[in-house]
Amino acid sequence: MSRLLSIETSPRGEASISRQLTRRFVAAWEAAHPGGTIKIRDLTDTSLAFVTAPWLQAYFTPPTQHSPEMKTVLQLSDELAAELLETDHLVISTPVYNYNVPAALKAWVDHVVRKGLTLGFDGKGLVTGKKATVLLASGGVYTHDSRSETVTLRANI
Ligand SMILES: Cc1cc2nc3c(=O)[nH]c(=O)nc-3n(C[C@H](O)[C@H](O)[C@H](O)COP(=O)(O)O)c2cc1C
Repeated sequence: MSRLLSIETSPRGEASISRQLTRRFVAAWEAAHPGGTIKIRDLTDTSLAFVTAPWLQAYFTPPTQHSPEMKTVLQLSDELAAELLETDHLVISTPVYNYNVPAALKAWVDHVVRKGLTLGFDGKGLVTGKKATVLLASGGVYTHDSRSETVTLRANI
């Protein structure tokens, strides 16, 4: 059974273009994967702390030596990394904010990139054998041959 993890980032609710793209993507994915499971991780409903000194201390300490405080500080990061590791297909839907991704999405990246869990100690990625799709909504068009989102959806499911 296939599993999809959908990361939502736009705070604009029903008005959001990226969320509309997600709905279309999910409908196409469900049709292609009957019986598949979908996990929605909405970053606007997730309390994503930025990286702090205690978080880094926990991050660099081997799990077998984690204090109760370190376990607590890494709890959300553990949860988010586990969601990523257990999915078959990751779809990230995001606006462009100031030529970048929203801060919440960057914070999510900081939480899921974990040495020994999703990133090898040799620097090689451990999140392998999965598909990933990024659905981008922007005010501007940044490539002269930008393809429509319909083509992107077909290419990635
Ligand atoms: C704070 C802010 C910054 C933005 N910066 C950019 C930008 O740098 N480039 C761009 O093309 N569009 C920019 N936009 C436009 C959004 O990317 C566009 O409205 C997009 O549809 C937002 O995604 P959403 O509809 O899913 O919320 C910005 C919008 C906001 C509110």
